[in-house]
Amino acid sequence: MVRRVSIGAPGTVLDLGSGSGVLAAAASKMWPTARVTTVDVDPAARFASLVLGLDHLTADATDFDLPGRFGGNGVDVVLSNPPFGGLPPAAAFAGILAAAGLDAIDGFAPSLELLFAAQALRLARPGGAVVLILSDGLATGRRNIAARRALLGAHGIASVTQMPAGSFRRTEAAGFVLSLIKGAPPSDQIELRRVRVDGREDPPVVVDSAEAATRLDHGFHAAIRSGREGRCLRDLGASIVRGSVELGSAELPREAIFHTTDFPSGDVRSALWLPCGAVRPERRVVVAERGDILVARLGRRLEDKVCHVAGGWTVPTSAVLRVRLPGEGGSAIAKVLMTRAGTARLAATARGTGARMLGREDLLTMPLPI
Ligand SMILES: C[S@@+](CC[C@H](N)C(=O)[O-])C[C@H]1O[C@@H](n2cnc3c(N)ncnc32)[C@H](O)[C@@H]1O
Repeated sequence: MVRRVSIGAPGTVLDLGSGSGVLAAAASKMWPTARVTTVDVDPAARFASLVLGLDHLTADATDFDLPGRFGGNGVDVVLSNPPFGGLPPAAAFAGILAAAGLDAIDGFAPSLELLFAAQALRLARPGGAVVLILSDGLATGRRNIAARRALLGAHGIASVTQMPAGSFRRTEAAGFVLSLIKGAPPSDQIELRRVRVDGREDPPVVVDSAEAATRLDHGFHAAIRSGREGRCLRDLGASIVRGSVELGSAELPREAIFHTTDFPSGDVRSALWLPCGAVRPERRVVVAERGDILVARLGRRLEDKVCHVAGGWTVPTSAVLRVRLPGEGGSAIAKVLMTRAGTARLAATARGTGARMLGREDLLTMPLPI
């Protein structure tokens, strides 16, 4: 994170939500003459700073008046690895967002993490550097497009670095390092980077701000750029619907239902024959039949969970997407999705880490490797 700071020789550095002081320690090693201050709501965090010989403030980062306690124009560098999850206090949210210039767009998904980002922006001086850890949700989730657009539109983005899963203790959540210059002209060329588990870095991918607002993960944009660009399922006239029943709750026998655990492996994937003995449901439920493709929407390694229905019918659960193509297109497209390139593209398009999610719209617009 300190290496991603894109201004030279800061005089003042703030670590917001300092905890064990790991970021503050890296900052004081990197800039020995800088005045480094730590802030944390947990009184125990004071001791880590004492040991490091740093200034410390026990304070709530969601306090609207926090910037006033630092006086002046703001600090040169703000670093923050905010708490993920949790809702922000309603009272503080609107005011802090507005004061950070992040309130102009509708559709924000309120989160404590976003509030930390807004407060970090308020604490930095104009032209100062803010380097933040972003969760997967804030970096790639559809719910946060408006928040990303607001950040990208108001500040100069120096880089966004995708870190490997397992970067944080006790969680497999991935994280991103966002580095920006407060109030600098918005960048239209945004550098997305990625660090692998072994510490190696992939070649950066440069995206424009509209692409970056869609999502900030290097993995997705690199996959899209690799190889020949194909058309997407929407261009091919596909319709995609999500299964309409839940496992266990439907008034249907288990063998009539298709869940993520039912995906076959091997050659069967491209020609799956489903049982058709049971009485077809009368209710208006989503049914998959000959020619349809089934793709897992939720779960681990969902890129391997693709199959083409060669005969029979089934009722997919809500964790499964049914893809229907005009004519006999299903078989060829299922094969494309099962190639190495198709699998890699599905993996890059799914969001989240661990148990992942593939949205209907994401699958419709995913360029196919054809
Ligand atoms: C994810 S930890 C990061 C700790 C450390 N900076 C690091 O990178 O390992 C988040 C820290 O934010 C602190 N924190 C949580 N809510 C806070 C709040 N409202 N105000 C200030 N600090 C808070 C927690 O006590 C914790 O130390």
